[in-house]
Amino acid sequence: MSKPEKLIESGIRLDGRRPDELRPIKIEIGVLNRADGSCYFEFGGNKVIAAVYGPREVHPRHQQKSNSAVVRYRYNMASFSVEDRKRPGPDRRSIEVSKVSREALEPVIFQEYFPRSAIDIFVEVLQADAGTRTAGINAASIALADAGIPMKSLISACAVGKIDDTLVLDLNKDEDNYGQADMPIAMTPDGRITLIQMDGNLKRDEFKEALEMAKTGCMAIHEMQKAALMDKYSAQIEGENNE
Ligand code: CDP
Repeated sequence: MSKPEKLIESGIRLDGRRPDELRPIKIEIGVLNRADGSCYFEFGGNKVIAAVYGPREVHPRHQQKSNSAVVRYRYNMASFSVEDRKRPGPDRRSIEVSKVSREALEPVIFQEYFPRSAIDIFVEVLQADAGTRTAGINAASIALADAGIPMKSLISACAVGKIDDTLVLDLNKDEDNYGQADMPIAMTPDGRITLIQMDGNLKRDEFKEALEMAKTGCMAIHEMQKAALMDKYSAQIEGENNE
């Protein structure tokens, strides 16, 4: 799409959302048989799958840590996930996204419970529409829980930004392309930030307001993550009780 004249008009964005509205979210848990935990996560036009393996042996062995697990996170975009074909394989952007996403999750994982082992997280982006790193983190957090990895809490993530001088939650591709700022954030349910990045500029008071907006967004996502996990596991427990 070429640059639209306006990205927001009378308080309504081009995709019909209010400034503080998230895109629709769909969560499916346990979609991969071979993974220890997995999650399919739709976040508006983003479609991602997270797979968690471990705790398991570390290969190559030199990556082993004697007093804790190593957490490895690989974010990968399928070549068909974006408008212009993405060249397969890692690039600077995917290495950066993998690093910050791992760092967003590590603080809640009890790594010290599993010395000399690895917890591997793979995130595959099947369809991208801005916000893939936040979609990946949301999916990975659920997949970790599905794998039974002990965690202090879930992690929830969404972006906040500015378009046409208005602060908005969860930017889509056009808003990201033609907006003034994009700030992905991840946090624990009690508001401890584990990821914050920013493209563009925000004034000091806008930054404060944006943080509050992101917090409200992350809390809403946390409720959905929790509900999806409760749904899967309460059904399973009920099934076991009826056996
Ligand atoms: O996806 P996220 O917002 O976390 O990361 P970004 O680097 O801000 O990228 C924003 C969006 O640009 C992605 O979600 C894709 O829709 C698009 N993109 C693309 O079309 N081709 C790429 N090689 C990388 C990103």
